[in-house]
Amino acid sequence: MNRSSAARFLLLIAATCSSFLIAHSRKQPVLASDHNASEACVPHERNALLAFKHGITNDSTNLLASWRAGQDCCRWTGITCDSQTGHVVKLDLNGAYSFYPPLVGQISSSLLSLEYLEYLDLSSNSLEGTNGSVPEFLGYMNNLRHLDLSYIPFSGRFPTLLSNLTNLEYLDLSTSFLGTVPLYLGNLSKLRYLDLSWMQNVQATDISWISHMHTLEYIDMSNITLSTITDLPVVANMIPTLKHIILINCLLPSANQSITHPNLTKLEDLDLSGNYFGHPIASCWFWNLKGLKSLRLDETYLYGPFPDALGEMVSLQHLDFSYNGKAATMTVDLKNLCELESLYLDKSLSSGNITEFVEKLPQCASSKLSALSSPSNNMTGVFPNTMEHLTSLITLILTNNSISGAIPPGIRNCTSLEYLHFSSNRLSGQIPLLPRSIRILDVPTNFLSGHLPLEFGFPNLKNLIISFNYITGQVPPSVCESPNMAFLDLSNNLFEGELPHCSHMPNLRFLLFYGSLPRWIGDLVSLRILHLSHNMFDGDIPDNITYLTRLQYLNLAANNISGLVPPSLSNLVGMTLKHRSSPNDDSYSFDESQDIFSLVTKHEVLKYGAHGLVDVIGIDLSLNRLTGGIPNEITSLSILSNLNLSWNHLSGNIPDNIGSMKLMESLDLSRNNFSGEIPPSLSDLTYLSYLDLSYNNLSGMIPSGRQLDTLYTENPSMYSGNNDLCGPPLLRNCSEKRASEHGNQQETKKDPDFVIFYYGLESGFVVAFWVVFCALLFKKAWRVAYFSFVDLLYDKLNMFVVVICCIYIARRKTKN
Ligand SMILES: *[C@@H]1O[C@H](CO)[C@@H](O)[C@H](O)[C@H]1NC(C)=O
Ligand SMILES: *[C@@H]1O[C@H](CO)[C@@H](O)[C@H](O)[C@H]1NC(C)=O
Ligand SMILES: *[C@@H]1O[C@H](CO)[C@@H](O)[C@H](O)[C@H]1NC(C)=O
Ligand SMILES: *[C@@H]1O[C@H](CO)[C@@H](O)[C@H](O)[C@H]1NC(C)=O
Ligand SMILES: *[C@@H]1O[C@H](CO)[C@@H](O)[C@H](O)[C@H]1NC(C)=O
Ligand SMILES: *[C@@H]1O[C@H](CO)[C@@H](O)[C@H](O)[C@H]1NC(C)=O
Ligand SMILES: *[C@@H]1O[C@H](CO)[C@@H](O)[C@H](O)[C@H]1NC(C)=O
Ligand SMILES: *[C@@H]1O[C@H](CO)[C@@H](O)[C@H](O)[C@H]1NC(C)=O
Ligand SMILES: *[C@@H]1O[C@H](CO)[C@@H](O)[C@H](O)[C@H]1NC(C)=O
Ligand SMILES: *[C@@H]1O[C@H](CO)[C@@H](O)[C@H](O)[C@H]1NC(C)=O
Ligand SMILES: *[C@@H]1O[C@H](CO)[C@@H](O)[C@H](O)[C@H]1NC(C)=O
Ligand SMILES: *[C@@H]1O[C@H](CO)[C@@H](O)[C@H](O)[C@H]1NC(C)=O
Repeated sequence: MNRSSAARFLLLIAATCSSFLIAHSRKQPVLASDHNASEACVPHERNALLAFKHGITNDSTNLLASWRAGQDCCRWTGITCDSQTGHVVKLDLNGAYSFYPPLVGQISSSLLSLEYLEYLDLSSNSLEGTNGSVPEFLGYMNNLRHLDLSYIPFSGRFPTLLSNLTNLEYLDLSTSFLGTVPLYLGNLSKLRYLDLSWMQNVQATDISWISHMHTLEYIDMSNITLSTITDLPVVANMIPTLKHIILINCLLPSANQSITHPNLTKLEDLDLSGNYFGHPIASCWFWNLKGLKSLRLDETYLYGPFPDALGEMVSLQHLDFSYNGKAATMTVDLKNLCELESLYLDKSLSSGNITEFVEKLPQCASSKLSALSSPSNNMTGVFPNTMEHLTSLITLILTNNSISGAIPPGIRNCTSLEYLHFSSNRLSGQIPLLPRSIRILDVPTNFLSGHLPLEFGFPNLKNLIISFNYITGQVPPSVCESPNMAFLDLSNNLFEGELPHCSHMPNLRFLLFYGSLPRWIGDLVSLRILHLSHNMFDGDIPDNITYLTRLQYLNLAANNISGLVPPSLSNLVGMTLKHRSSPNDDSYSFDESQDIFSLVTKHEVLKYGAHGLVDVIGIDLSLNRLTGGIPNEITSLSILSNLNLSWNHLSGNIPDNIGSMKLMESLDLSRNNFSGEIPPSLSDLTYLSYLDLSYNNLSGMIPSGRQLDTLYTENPSMYSGNNDLCGPPLLRNCSEKRASEHGNQQETKKDPDFVIFYYGLESGFVVAFWVVFCALLFKKAWRVAYFSFVDLLYDKLNMFVVVICCIYIARRKTKN
């Protein structure tokens, strides 16, 4: 692994495992110990440490600034000495708190001189050295009790020599090696903590050695191949001290062994997710472990009914059973699980009755249940209104079921509720008063009706998505009293009147609604994407739209807009190179999932991932009634890649320096009244892949250029309907300008099927999108109960949502 791929590896891991990082919340780096200054450190140990520092080629956070010759090394950052002997006993340079690995270089063998060292933590640094292999000498540091080399991108063989460190009590090698050797660490019989997770290509064909670790409390071997291991419960049962067993993605073949006399009374945490078991849930070996607090079984494809024993696991706090192929059922009475905090069953049940399900949730003096997630589980029935036992809920996700009845008014009593997801169900009736804690209300695609409650402003509300319902009346002005609103979708309801003037929503990034184009649009200074196509907006485009200096995508196509193209387009600096936003500073930079959705531009589907969207800088004002000319200022939008002004009543000349928009990929000026000559600079647009100038009054000679010739071959009608154009590639000679129209310029009518194609295509994405949306949202590593994390994710997902909502608008229009 070379340096840069190592770095990427680290970053990838940092990203996928950040929740684990939080979970294990590593100890703070130890600062210089409070040590008696007169008791200066042992000179040869100081020299050893200085030699170690010498091996560091980059210390970007100045971690080792205090490591200076002639000073008491016991006071250096990361060093602890024994208060009696003055020997260095602890070296802790854990780099987990920096984004970049703070230390780059190699681990000097001078550390061998620290004979009394008991604690060595070099994790999360780039200390793999030039050849990447684990230094042999570590195997001689017999005094070590604590060794943490995690997140150092070593490569090469698994360091069997580490099995000589028989005094170790703590060993963390997670995310550090590429190995091919079977593991053997049975000599480390004093270990209490063993983390070998997320190394690559490591396998174990025998794990009986684990049972030699008689005091082991924590073992994580996630992603180590254990495909031949069938005696896991037997081995584990020999170690009554075990509290945590984490074996994610290990290719374990089954969990249907039986243990006659369970020893694992201390086991609190069992995570077997990502192993394909594919046998009945009830046959698993762990259901009689009454001490379990956390049980994670997502993506195990266990099926059938949950056993009644679950109802007796009274210590259980977290049960995660998501993505299991929808062949399980959950009818167990959970009334006694008073400690239960989270229950995730996403996409795992074949059916369910929400009424009965909710009634069987814990009913205890004080409810602790804060997260309940059961989307895509074919659940029917009515959500009961008795919610006294659910008042601690923070997250309630029941998206994509067949739940009917009303959103229970009792929800008002859930005063911690922040995330309410009920989209795509059969809910009817009015939206009730909501608790003030609400952050996300996501209830589109139901049969909700009636007016919105007058009190509809919430201090933390960020996403309000109620589209595709039958909600009537006025949008209450209190909607504007949500200062944190970032995403507001009221489209496809039966609202009357205008949207209230919401100038107090400085964070609003995405806005979708019906009605008329608001004049206060320029107040929404954070807006980047304004996509209001296929509505019934009339009037003109407010000049204030050019106050949106972060705008990158403006789509007002297919409305009834008249008047001029706003002249001060050069204010839209978000579409110029200089003010281009970096992908990182915004909520929709999202590395995962390429090609998730597509932006449909005319005649072609441009696929792009979430990052790519930032790259689509475009203006689409087509299919309106705009008049006047194209302001010359438009050519200052240097990174515009898509400009569509077709099907308007625009006139005048095409700006001479149109060729300065060098990144233009698609330019459509067809079906207007443009006149004059085609500017020769057009042939400078070397990235152009679509050009349509047809049906204008353009005249004179067509500019030459290879790109234009190619485009003409692909679309021979791109100059049609301009009677006075001449010269190649047309057959009409410029000297006989006035001659009658040539056969070559046959009328090629706009494809009447186009509109249907356009919408038909999009509806396919809707489905695909939701699948991805849910998958990302509930992806294992991100979930757990870290709501702040979820919060962040929602931010990132906003971008996806906006697209789908536009699609919805488009679909509604086809129906009309
Ligand atoms: C430092 O150690 C010396 C000798 O062991 C002792 O006399 C002195 O009081 C100590 N100073 C402090 C601040 O502890
Ligand atoms: C040291 O690392 C930092 C952060 O990774 C980097 O920006 C800097 O260029 C590096 N310096 C040297 C001298 O390699
Ligand atoms: C890697 O480098 C260390 C010293 O930096 C050396 O001792 C070791 O033999 C090298 N390993 C390989 C596989 O080259
Ligand atoms: C590891 O331990 C064995 C047996 O005690 C010994 O023979 C060997 O030299 C040790 N190796 C190292 C690298 O300490
Ligand atoms: C480690 O275990 C192996 C195999 O049981 C044994 O041969 C070796 O001597 C042990 N080493 C130490 C240092 O205990
Ligand atoms: C998990 O293990 C597989 C196969 O050993 C490897 O390809 C993959 O990179 C590992 N994943 C991580 C995140 O280490
Ligand atoms: C329970 O643990 C003890 C101590 O490790 C062990 O001796 C015994 O065999 C275990 N019992 C079972 C049934 O595994
Ligand atoms: C355990 O499940 C596997 C399939 O995962 C099956 O082949 C095996 O027969 C089952 N064993 C028992 C004892 O039920
Ligand atoms: C869930 O419901 C859908 C539609 O109602 C049905 O097609 C599907 O078969 C059901 N799934 C299961 C696992 O029963
Ligand atoms: C759900 O359960 C309730 C209570 O047992 C029952 O009244 C209702 O008919 C059930 N609904 C469905 C759709 O099965
Ligand atoms: C909220 O809880 C109180 C006290 O339990 C109850 O009287 C009231 O009816 C509940 N409100 C709703 C809307 O259910
Ligand atoms: C346009 O924006 C300016 C400055 O924010 C504001 O004073 C003016 O009222 C806005 N125009 C309209 C019509 O809202």
